[in-house]
Formats: sequence, structure tokens, C-alpha cells
Amino acid sequence: MFDLKGRTAIVTGAGRGVGAEIARHLARRGAIVAVNDVVDERAEEIAAEILADGGTAIAAVFDVTDHGAVATAAAALEREVGGVDILINNAGVPAQMRVAKFVDSLPEDWRKYIELNLYGVMNCCRAIVPGMCKRGWGRVITISSGAGTVGLNFGVSPYAAGKGGAISFMRHLALETAASGVTANTVAIGLIDNQADPSVTASLAKTIPVGRLGRPDDVAALCLYLASSEAAWMTGQTIGLNGGSPTS
Ligand SMILES: NC(=O)c1ccc[n+]([C@@H]2O[C@H](COP(=O)([O-])OP(=O)(O)OC[C@H]3O[C@@H](n4cnc5c(N)ncnc54)[C@H](O)[C@@H]3O)[C@@H](O)[C@H]2O)c1
Repeated sequence: MFDLKGRTAIVTGAGRGVGAEIARHLARRGAIVAVNDVVDERAEEIAAEILADGGTAIAAVFDVTDHGAVATAAAALEREVGGVDILINNAGVPAQMRVAKFVDSLPEDWRKYIELNLYGVMNCCRAIVPGMCKRGWGRVITISSGAGTVGLNFGVSPYAAGKGGAISFMRHLALETAASGVTANTVAIGLIDNQADPSVTASLAKTIPVGRLGRPDDVAALCLYLASSEAAWMTGQTIGLNGGSPTS
């Protein structure tokens, strides 16, 4: 099950964290993986690691918020490794993420969250999904957040607007592409233990019913399923992956 041999995948924002783990898992199942990041050393490091582990990977350095750069990169990938079968929209944390109550936020700070979390997803889908539809097979998976599905009092409303926008967009994309063999699903993840300070995460973990924060491999395992042929009947869904937490 979940054999990805012969498939080409791209994971955005895969130079570290959750995206890097998704890229490693896809490669272990046999996919050729394009490791995207806006930071070239990060993309190159993870691609090299996958190669050293016996997988097939290339670095694909571009900014998902730049539609022209995304389209150019998608065309180059098609020439070099074939059309993309699996698109994982993972890039989602802007470089300077500021937490602030909306009433104290600055309008000039909102744009980066929407551009990355909504336009970034739309740019990649616009460049890659037409080829999937033409070939009659594709998997689009967007990594969203519990912040896009419930209200939180953490001061992350512009980020949540982008995450929630992507969830709505994916539902519509799923229906438009369902008859072409292309599925589109979103994973709304809760808090992930991603090199965070353990003194902070220990208390947060206690609020999660299963008693721990999520790990990047929890997300990667679900992505493997969603990316597989076995998941052909799963589309248009927003799947909460959060240790049972009702608030994320
Ligand atoms: N970590 C969490 O607790 C958590 C919780 C909920 C949702 N998420 C979501 O999970 C995903 C991964 O989060 P993470 O914690 O691994 O993030 P991270 O910050 O560790 O890694 C994200 C990577 O994306 C890259 N990136 C940023 N902007 C980019 C752009 N414009 N184009 C291409 N690459 C870009 C960064 O350089 C970085 O390497 C994100 O969508 C995030 O919103 C994370």
C-alpha cells in the first residue's frame, strides 16, 4: 500500500520542519521529490539528505508567492523530472510572523499571511493542476491549521484568514477536478513540536487530549495516504490532525 514509485512530487517549504519530513516520507515510498524552499541552502540540504538516504530528490528554489517564479519552476520540473503528480502545499509561516490582537495589528502586516497561505497555494495549484487533469491523475494536499477552522485567542487572525481561505479554495478545487482523477484535500494541523522550547511546549502538551504535541512524522504519515492511489475516493475534505484537541 501507498507505493509512490513512478510518481513525481513537490513539497513547498520543505527545507525544514513539517515539509522536510513529508519530503523524506514521500521519497522513501519511491516518489521523485522536488524539495521547494525560498531559502536555497535549506532546499539543497534536504534534497542532498534524501539522495544520501537512497531516494531521488532535487532542490526547487522559488518563492510560492511569486506567480511567475512558480510557473517557471513548474515548467522546468516538467522538463527535468516529468509532470508533477503530487503537490503538497506546505509553505505557510512567513519569515517575520508577529503575534498581535487584530485591533492592535497593522494593515501592512496582513498581506504576507494572505499572500503565503492563500495566494501561495493558488499559485502552485494554477501552475501544476492543469497538467494533472490532462494526465488524468493527481493529488493536491494543502497543509492548513486548526487556526483556519476555529477561532483562537492567540493574536493570529491574519494568519488564520489565509489558512481558512485555503481551506475554502481547496474544497472548490476538489469539485472542479474530481472527474479528472485529481483529488484535493486539506490537513488542518494542531501544534507541532518543531524545535520549540521544551519549557513552553510541555505545558501546551498538557492541553492536548493525547498528551503530546504533534510531530512532523504524524503529518507525513497522513500525507502518504492522501498522496497514494488508495486515497482515490477521498477528496474535498479538511482533516483535523490535532491529538483530539477541540481548539486547534
Ligand atoms: N508548526 C506548527 O505548530 C504548525 C501548526 C499548524 C499549522 N502549521 C503549518 O504547517 C506548515 C509547516 O510549518 P512548519 O512549522 O514546518 O514551518 P517552518 O517555518 O519550520 O518551515 C517552513 C519553511 O517554508 C519556507 N518558506 C517560507 N515562505 C516561503 C515561500 N514564500 N516560498 C517557499 N518556501 C517558503 C521557509 O523558508 C521554511 O523553510 C505551515 O503551512 C504551517 O502554517 C504548523
